[in-house]
Amino acid sequence: MEVTTSARFLFAGVLFTWVLSVGCEKVTDNVMPCEFPAIFNFGDSNSDTGAISAAFYPRPPPNGVTFFHDPAGRVCDGRLVIDFIAKYLGLPYLSPYLDSFGTNFRHGANFATGGATIRRANDSLFVSGISPFPLDIQTVQYSNFKNRTTKLYSQGRRSANRKNFPRPEEFSKSLFVIDIGQNDLSAIFRNTSKEKVQSAIPDMINQFGVDVQFLYQQGARTFWIHNTGPIGCLPSTLFDIHNPVPGFLDGNGCVKSQNDVAKEFNRQLKERVNKLKTELPLAAITYVDMYAAKYSLISDAKKQGFFENLNICCGSYKDGIRFYCGNNLLKNGTQIFIGACKDPSLHISWDGIHYTEAANRWIANQIISGYFSDTKIPITHACYR
Ligand SMILES: *[C@@H]1O[C@H](CO)[C@@H](O)[C@H](O)[C@H]1NC(C)=O
Ligand SMILES: *[C@@H]1O[C@H](CO)[C@@H](O)[C@H](O)[C@H]1NC(C)=O
Ligand SMILES: *[C@@H]1O[C@H](CO)[C@@H](O)[C@H](O)[C@H]1NC(C)=O
Ligand SMILES: *[C@@H]1O[C@H](CO)[C@@H](O)[C@H](O)[C@H]1NC(C)=O
Repeated sequence: MEVTTSARFLFAGVLFTWVLSVGCEKVTDNVMPCEFPAIFNFGDSNSDTGAISAAFYPRPPPNGVTFFHDPAGRVCDGRLVIDFIAKYLGLPYLSPYLDSFGTNFRHGANFATGGATIRRANDSLFVSGISPFPLDIQTVQYSNFKNRTTKLYSQGRRSANRKNFPRPEEFSKSLFVIDIGQNDLSAIFRNTSKEKVQSAIPDMINQFGVDVQFLYQQGARTFWIHNTGPIGCLPSTLFDIHNPVPGFLDGNGCVKSQNDVAKEFNRQLKERVNKLKTELPLAAITYVDMYAAKYSLISDAKKQGFFENLNICCGSYKDGIRFYCGNNLLKNGTQIFIGACKDPSLHISWDGIHYTEAANRWIANQIISGYFSDTKIPITHACYR
């Protein structure tokens, strides 16, 4: 009797400490952090670490100017959220699956490609910038990666392949990160009404669920799923609004109708993720409110040490003309290079669509802590169901 009671007290104490400590990056010592041997990432340019650069044209300077001092395949002056996640977990920055040079997949691979969508698009990269590698193809690439590395691993103990690939038993212990949806929404937004986009959301969410189930069938267990960000707050979005009606912006200068669609997408995504939690009995799935993290940075920009959110560091969207970051163009007979601002770390937006390294670092710190997650556990404990 004594023992049971005190054990119960102890247990309650542990729970209490746990609840108190999450969200402040301090987790009770009673729960061991997960040891993720690798990260497999899926998504679009928010987390592409060089796929489009490898498969098509390299990203031009001044991308990479802050951190890699080289474009490094990212559309950013430095690191992306996925880079900060890898760093935080003590793992190397992810090599793109599509890259043939200098890659090392020992601790994971990145299947994200800039311009990627959840649904297969009927567009071409050359027409609209949509990636030919949508989410379902990225998951097939992962499956192929797993099957081929597993086979190579079993051949030849001294094979050089071994040191560049995860071990077969590590796949199910790895972290699977997904960040996609923005391009599905913005691609149709360009030409159609809010209602048309809304009506396409269930199809996007359905495909998303199918892709997560496929990864699960291929051994994935720990999922870290980002919802989509406030696309109405991207400076480039404003440029696409041709017939603004009074009151179309919110207090932070974001386009309300576009954010409404992002929020509806996220509502349905969260619902689907909750269903997946019951459908996939061995999966630990964390839904991360990326929208809230990014929006809180945007609404609190000045206090967090940034200029206001609509200030672009590289390139501009003004007076009906786009000047893309990194472009060379002829203006009045002279060659002009669209370069970076003096101090990218003061800007939230790098190029009007993508975030700066400074913003990505801020966002990553927030989500890693678990503060924006459902359930509120830090990323180091995401493997617990
Ligand atoms: C692509 O075209 C097919 C056939 O017209 C259509 O069913 C599908 O919805 C289209 N996909 C997208 C993403 O618009
Ligand atoms: C990998 O192997 C699994 C199990 O045999 C199979 O279901 C899957 O289709 C294979 N993946 C690819 C891309 O061939
Ligand atoms: C949007 O519509 C315009 C004309 O209505 C057309 O010229 C343009 O190609 C369309 N853009 C896309 C991305 O479908
Ligand atoms: C174009 O260049 C000429 C000669 O250098 C200069 O006089 C003129 O003001 C320039 N025009 C614009 C629009 O910058």
